[in-house]
Amino acid sequence: APSDPDLVERARAAKEKLGDKVFVLGHHYQRDEVIQFADVTGDSFKLARDAAARPEAEYIVFCGVHFMAESADILTADDQKVVLPDLAAGCSMADMATAEQVAECWDVLTEAGVAEQVVPVSYMNSSADIKAFTGRHGGTICTSSNAKRALEWAFEQGEKVLFLPDQHLGRNTAVRDMGMSLEDCVLYNPHKPGGGLTAEELRNAKMILWRGHCSVHGRFSVESVNDVRERIPGVNVLVHPECKHEVVAAADYVGSTEYIIKALEAAPAGSKWAIGTELNLVRRLANRFAAEDKEIVFLDKTVCFCSTMNRIDLPHLVWALESLADGNPVNRIEVDPETEKYAKLALERMLALP
Ligand code: 13P
Ligand code: SF4
Repeated sequence: APSDPDLVERARAAKEKLGDKVFVLGHHYQRDEVIQFADVTGDSFKLARDAAARPEAEYIVFCGVHFMAESADILTADDQKVVLPDLAAGCSMADMATAEQVAECWDVLTEAGVAEQVVPVSYMNSSADIKAFTGRHGGTICTSSNAKRALEWAFEQGEKVLFLPDQHLGRNTAVRDMGMSLEDCVLYNPHKPGGGLTAEELRNAKMILWRGHCSVHGRFSVESVNDVRERIPGVNVLVHPECKHEVVAAADYVGSTEYIIKALEAAPAGSKWAIGTELNLVRRLANRFAAEDKEIVFLDKTVCFCSTMNRIDLPHLVWALESLADGNPVNRIEVDPETEKYAKLALERMLALP
């Protein structure tokens, strides 16, 4: 549906009043009605890097989910205020690893006698607490666009990696990009005593994968890949690495949201694409490239938005921008200094990856 013209005008007016005082970041999964007001759009890596690009901006409005706003707060100056237009915009995957569970996991690794060989690598999609744990234990953060480089770095520091919280990105990167086998990976289940693993299994593993996943990307199946290949002969299947290993193995190309956009920009006219990622982005790309005669379809028959990304809508954005224009900022995201110190260490290791 087209955006409410009254709200569009209010968002525009509030942004104009704020001028350089506000910097609006928008993740690629955001709604069209929101993304039109973003000063910068990107995947999670680009947004982490760009968050600090406007040190003169007093406010950073993050149109994305909670862990992204936390990371922006960590990476920007202390006097810059980060605002998330709806505090309920979380990420179910990030919620799958709590600080308590991860501390318990480290005890399990210590008891098995392997902790000293383990380097934690945490996906950006994790809370600031998990990032701080990662920094304290000599590890790095990664995103879907640098997971391979992060693992290469980690295996220079130690013999084993604890990858959290997305088992799929961890497994896909280990097997697809690092030449490991599925047997090199074990799954740590935080809901079972000892993670459901024996000390011997932990000693033999190279990759200890946390049992977390994205419920949006988890809906794509090998069946959906086979179906689309049958429906659209010659189709290129391009999926996000948060998809299950079987799906990634059946696809032609795999990459982050930014990679997906670049691949479609470079695609020749007349080519056909089935995309396995969040629906706001796929729809936007289908509309954008229709004029260039690139056929872009969603790799599934069922509708598949990320419900928490979708919580940031135009009414929430207007409310947040107007609160800033009025000098009464709402929904500030602020990471406590102790957590920030170690989380920043882990994030800076990622930003310094070759
Ligand atoms: P990227 O934009 O880094 O590919 O990440 C996708 C995602 O799920 C963010 O939550
Ligand atoms: Fe989290 Fe998945 Fe939504 Fe990304 S798409 S924010 S991983 S729930």
